[in-house]
Amino acid sequence: MNAIEARELKKSFNGVAAVNGVSFSVREGEVFGFLGPNGAGKTTTIRMLVGLLKPDGGKAFIMGYDVIKNPIEARELIGVVPEESNPYPDLSAWDNLRLVGMLYALPGKEIRERGMSLLKLLGIEEVKDRKVRGFSKGMKQKLLIAMALIGGPRVLFLDEPTSGLDVFSVRKIHELISELSREGVTVFLTTHNVEEAGAICDRVAIIDKGRIVAMGSPDELKIKTGGYLYLSVVFDREVGGDVKEILGDYEFKLGGRKLLVVCKEPGEVIGRIVDYARAKGLKIERVRTSEPSMAEVFMRIVGAK
Ligand SMILES: Nc1ncnc2c1ncn2[C@@H]1O[C@H](COP(=O)(O)OP(=O)(O)O)[C@@H](O)[C@H]1O
Ligand SMILES: [Mg+2]
Repeated sequence: MNAIEARELKKSFNGVAAVNGVSFSVREGEVFGFLGPNGAGKTTTIRMLVGLLKPDGGKAFIMGYDVIKNPIEARELIGVVPEESNPYPDLSAWDNLRLVGMLYALPGKEIRERGMSLLKLLGIEEVKDRKVRGFSKGMKQKLLIAMALIGGPRVLFLDEPTSGLDVFSVRKIHELISELSREGVTVFLTTHNVEEAGAICDRVAIIDKGRIVAMGSPDELKIKTGGYLYLSVVFDREVGGDVKEILGDYEFKLGGRKLLVVCKEPGEVIGRIVDYARAKGLKIERVRTSEPSMAEVFMRIVGAK
């Protein structure tokens, strides 16, 4: 059984499609990333998956439960950290956490044990008795995550969990996500940060203008760009625009002494460049090939449409 399943989800606001037929499934224990630029439809999708927003079309399932037809069963299985939410500022971190535990009707002992272990895991146990009002953004976000986890959800939804946080908080949250996944918790997160998606997700769906434009593991997404490599060559002096003639259909960028060529088989291109350099009396100082980064993959996929 899939932990999350979206089938042809659709939602429009004032006649404009925010989510336009989104389908995917997430296995139990998987860390699944929804990667896309601002306004792509990430938050709208999350809101439909957790039953906060009724889709115009399509269906969403959590552990097999239809979120519209069986909302109680579905909601019992999930924890959510919405994009812009705040703990109660006038309560302490601990009281915020306890309040959620009580809403879940958890026994006091369980709230204490689970609550403390979550605060420790997130590194905010020392501030548990302080009012949230004075918390940094990172501290608030960690508390919100603890609040989403106190009920022991099987599926955790995080909407841009690390956006605007310092590197230490980001690392802590990434560590927690890996730990949850090891325990079999399914994590669905949205992000507009390509490197984050590539680093912590088992699979990523790239969403743009309400549609999924690519889906796969970070490695597969690199392959899906056609297995291209970047070949960079540095000469001892400036290269003329006539290098275009030997490069034919290859995509390239020329900047002073540097030439960057996008290619599948660098060997053949290097041969041409060596011939060119010899003919022009240029010396090649450095040759390097590199794989496209996740950011480049993203730009290629989103930009290519
Ligand atoms: N409640 C709403 N009313 C009107 N338009 C909305 C509403 N929520 C989202 N939208 C629009 O839908 C599109 C997708 O928004 P959203 O899902 O928030 O994107 P993301 O989370 O990827 O940044 C945007 O164009 C946004 O302006
Ligand atoms: Mg959003």
